[in-house]
Amino acid sequence: MFPMNQWIKIKAPATVANMVCGFDILGFAVNDPYDEMEMRLVERAPNGANIVIINIDDYNLPTDPEQNVAGAALIALIEEYDFSKLAFEVKINKLIKPGSGVGSSAASSAGAVVGANYLLGNPFSKDDLVRFAMNGEKVASGVKHADNIAPCIHGGVTLVRSIFPLEVIALPSPQLHVTIVHPQIEVKTADARSILRQNVKLKDAIKQWGNIAGLVAGLMKGDYDLIGRSLEDVIIEPIRSILIPGFDDLKKACKEVGALGGGISGSGPSIFMLSKEKETAIAVEQEMKKIYEGFGLAHHTYVTTINQAGVEISE
Ligand code: HSE
Repeated sequence: MFPMNQWIKIKAPATVANMVCGFDILGFAVNDPYDEMEMRLVERAPNGANIVIINIDDYNLPTDPEQNVAGAALIALIEEYDFSKLAFEVKINKLIKPGSGVGSSAASSAGAVVGANYLLGNPFSKDDLVRFAMNGEKVASGVKHADNIAPCIHGGVTLVRSIFPLEVIALPSPQLHVTIVHPQIEVKTADARSILRQNVKLKDAIKQWGNIAGLVAGLMKGDYDLIGRSLEDVIIEPIRSILIPGFDDLKKACKEVGALGGGISGSGPSIFMLSKEKETAIAVEQEMKKIYEGFGLAHHTYVTTINQAGVEISE
C-alpha cells in the first residue's frame, strides 16, 4: 500500500467514443486535453466519510460521492475491498469541459479508480477498474457504457466486445493524427441518447457491422484507406448530427482537405477527424475554425495524437 497521507498526481486523458460506426463499443484516448487529479489515502475519522471530493475547478460539480462520477466509481471499488478504516481524498481539476463529448466524466471516473488502485498496491485488474468506473458513467448519462472508460484506462483504441460480462480488447493502430473541434454548446449525453431510435433496419445494420469490421481490420492492417472508408455511421449520426450546427458542411470540408474521415465524438457536440499526416490534421483544424467563425460560434480546437498510455500516475 502507498504511504498514508501522501498525494499522488493523476493525468486522465480525454477519449473519443464510438469512433463513428462503433456506437458504445469503440473508442480511443487522445493526448490532449486531459484532466488532472490528486489523491491520497488517509485514516478515516470516527464516523467520517470514506470518500472526500474536493473540486479545484469552476464547474461546481457535486461533491457528494454518490452524485459525483469519480465518487460513484470509488464507491464501487470500495465495495470489493476491506476499506473500513481508510478514506480517499480526491482533488479534481477538470481541464476537459463537462458535456463536451470527449469523455469528461470518463476521465474523472477512470482517473479516480486507477489512482485508488495505485494507492492500495494494485489489487485490481484493468477490467475490474473499467467495471468500477462504469458506475461513474451511469451517474453522468444514466447508462453503464465503457467506450470512453476502456480507452481512458488502457490507452490506445479499444473494442468493448461485451459489457456483461466485461470483455475489452485493446486494438493496435497505425500513427493517426486527431483534430477535434468543440463548439461551445452543451449536449448532454442523456439527451443525445434519448433521441435515438430503438429499432434499426436490417439493411442499415448490415452496413454498420460491415463498417465496424472494416474499421477494426483497417486498424490492425494499418490500411489508411480502409479506415477512411469505414468511418461511416448510418444509424446514430443521421439523428444526432441535427444537434450540432454545421455538421455536414464541416465534415465535407475536412474530407476535402484530406482527412481520412470522422464524425461526432461520443454524443457530441465535439467533432473529430482522423488524418494520416500532421499537416493534414492542421489543415483540418483551419477548416473547422473557418466554418465556426463563419457561424459566429465560439469553439475550441485540438490537434493531437492517440494516447497509448491511458491514465498516468506520478508521485
Ligand atoms: N457511446 C456513448 C454515446 C458515448 O454515444 O452515447 C457517450 O460519451
